[in-house]
Amino acid sequence: MSEVQSVQWYPGHMASSRRKIVEDLKLVDVVVELLDARVPRSSANPVLKQLAKAKPRVVLLNKSDMADPNVTARWIAAFEQQGVKAVAVDCRAGKGMPAFYAAVRAAAGEKIAGWEEKGMAGRAVRAMVVGIPNVGKSSLINRLAGGRGKAKVQDKPGVTRQNQWFTVEKGLELLDTPGILWPKFDDPIVGEHLAFTGAVRDEILDREGLACRLLELLDELYPQCIRERYKLGADAGADLPGYELLERVGRRRGMLISGGEIDTERAAVTVLDEYRGGLLGRITLERP
Ligand code: G4P
Repeated sequence: MSEVQSVQWYPGHMASSRRKIVEDLKLVDVVVELLDARVPRSSANPVLKQLAKAKPRVVLLNKSDMADPNVTARWIAAFEQQGVKAVAVDCRAGKGMPAFYAAVRAAAGEKIAGWEEKGMAGRAVRAMVVGIPNVGKSSLINRLAGGRGKAKVQDKPGVTRQNQWFTVEKGLELLDTPGILWPKFDDPIVGEHLAFTGAVRDEILDREGLACRLLELLDELYPQCIRERYKLGADAGADLPGYELLERVGRRRGMLISGGEIDTERAAVTVLDEYRGGLLGRITLERP
């Protein structure tokens, strides 16, 4: 069991959350999968495809305000190739909502046509939101629910309460309780990438090691961003070890401890905080 799993999830959690999702899926026409646009692969759980079976799916690439817009466009195209409509959104600021409504209606096209044939035109499409913790499920639901009774979303899969529907707009109703998926614990890269974004609390992780690996990845994907911010020197592409990069950050920021040694723990916290706060720019850590 990985560190991440042992803290937030255990098999009982997963089983009850899975049961709840399967139950709720019976009630909806479309499933809305929320992903983190900065780490679309690590924030997805392939189990959903199995659970949702033939249900039409719409993918929302959330936190797109913090992701690299060019890479987000590539992810959208990659989903399109698999026949899945993906939309970039920013649930905190409420950006991309009309495109999201349109995508849900389009995904339910066959259902809607069937209703029309049966003389049930005008029936609302019902959808539910699913995603791993911290991906923005409550932000989305609270924003869409507006004043119509705020949905307080529980991250504890064992906690159940009565589901309610609310009308997002004419023709679209949303379940006020999201399905909570668990991350792919068997893949260590997933745990790491989620920790980079702050989805996993890092009090429990080795911050220095984490910052070193983030710096290595950033130096590969976005060398300009970190080199400019931390004045790391012009040797981008030199494949420097993360610890060397971290020491350079500490030195440039004057983070020293007695004896003139570099305070790499402090440098690590700075790097992680500044990345998560968007100070390094709009960055996507995974490519389609
Ligand atoms: P969850 O229900 O899936 O667990 O996620 P939740 O909505 O609680 O969102 C987790 C964090 O992500 C929150 O930040 C929320 O504000 C932030 N967030 C959600 N959507 C977006 C987005 O599109 N862009 C950005 N930049 N952030 C987003 P927090 O720091 O935990 O809370 P708060 O300080 O915002 O209250």
